[in-house]
Amino acid sequence: MNATSSNPNNPKQDKSSAVSDSSMNTSPADKSSTSVGQQMWGGRFSEATDSFVAAFTASVGFDQRFARHDIEGSIAHATMLKECQILSEEDVATIIDGLKQVLAEIEAGEFNWSVTLEDVHMNVESRLTDIVGAVGKKLHTGRSRNDQVATDIRLWLREETDNIIALLIRLQRGLLGLAEQHTDTIMPGFTHLQTAQPVSFGHHVMAWFEMLHRDTERLIDARRRINQMPLGSAALAGTTFPIDRTITAELLGFEGICQNSLDAVSDRDFAIEFTAAASILMMHLSRMSEEIILWMSAQFNFVQIPDRFCTGSSIMPQKKNPDVPELVRGKAARVFGQLTTLLTLMKNQPLAYNKDNQEDKEPLFDCVDTLTGSLLAFADMLPNIVPNKDSMREATMKGYATATDLADYLVRRGVAFRDAHEVVGNAVALGIKEGVDLSDLSLAQLQSFSDAIGEDVFDYLTLEGSLAARDHLGGTAPNQVLQAVARARTRIDALEA
Ligand code: ARG
Repeated sequence: MNATSSNPNNPKQDKSSAVSDSSMNTSPADKSSTSVGQQMWGGRFSEATDSFVAAFTASVGFDQRFARHDIEGSIAHATMLKECQILSEEDVATIIDGLKQVLAEIEAGEFNWSVTLEDVHMNVESRLTDIVGAVGKKLHTGRSRNDQVATDIRLWLREETDNIIALLIRLQRGLLGLAEQHTDTIMPGFTHLQTAQPVSFGHHVMAWFEMLHRDTERLIDARRRINQMPLGSAALAGTTFPIDRTITAELLGFEGICQNSLDAVSDRDFAIEFTAAASILMMHLSRMSEEIILWMSAQFNFVQIPDRFCTGSSIMPQKKNPDVPELVRGKAARVFGQLTTLLTLMKNQPLAYNKDNQEDKEPLFDCVDTLTGSLLAFADMLPNIVPNKDSMREATMKGYATATDLADYLVRRGVAFRDAHEVVGNAVALGIKEGVDLSDLSLAQLQSFSDAIGEDVFDYLTLEGSLAARDHLGGTAPNQVLQAVARARTRIDALEA
């Protein structure tokens, strides 16, 4: 065993993540490396853990990501033990100083992570004891790694959720700025990806805003259930020491305390809920991505995004590929996959903690990293979309987008809607035959389909008229979209308050 060498399986790792001792390429037959004494639970064992098994069952390669939260939790736990007179003031002061030193070593990248010590919790505790001596062994009084790990995940995920919510709100604010500039920028609204009715680009962007707003609310709601404290549940049944969980909860900023020790150490529904909210959010980002990708094609030519979000082709010089939206569309798949992983991981697990739960971390980390990266890209990219107003207008003109407006016009003049529908269908057929828009047909041509049509019909066949007519809450009329933006700003301010 070489305590200072890094893991040969991972040449890219930095100093802080290097894991020493056993590695996964040690075969089960090679029992050379691990000594019983080094393991923190070695007391009842008569032989050392097989070095392959030690590496296979270890989580330190990934859960060292919790180091800061683990130490924060330990400091709070030790403080509570002191307040409850379970440990002496002097011992706790020594323990806390030692823990701070461990954290400093980790943050400086000077910590030797050992796979023999299995996970972040035992690595930290073992180093604490190296530094402060035997008193370090008292820290684990009234606690278990089962409540410790559940606490660490929640502290870490709470922080990541806050980052993600902040990114989402930044993105939402960017969308409001974009929508505000384009309440008069007309584009085709689609159903079945066929031109349906004119809308403004601003109205379309506000649809994106609403999708993201529900995502923000979902994450804020999930955060309340993430922010409950398992600590004090110990291994599964609680502890025989006279602990006071309200002290630790307050020190760690938890909103509440998990009410049942068996549940607290075992369920990961809060992580599943986060991943479910993340999946819905990624689904939304993938839909926005898809639209941007379509719109950037020569066939649509609706928008441009800044070059920094695109790449070229090594063979086709004309290409500007929308790599960022394409990749985000693809990354949604990973997050959905991690949701399935976590649900499947929890399915059928009996109470209370099972080692299966160690498998909760990597899917959750991947989900958080994927989501954070996608939001970072979107928060910068989306507000910088530039619509090609002329192409959008031209496309709207091509699709008989004001046909419904003509039907509504006839209805206001006493024609039954079904009859009006028929009249307009005939007018559209003529337009297609002549290769012109409804607004380009002559009054006489239009009147040949219905004598309810008057000269004022052309006011309703213009794109501007069509937009302005949808003048109610949630409609695409420019003044309505401006009001929607103003209300949205208030809603976002309220979330941040
Ligand atoms: N590394 C473990 C995990 O990630 C910590 C808890 C282990 N508890 C136990 N009794 N083996 O879940």
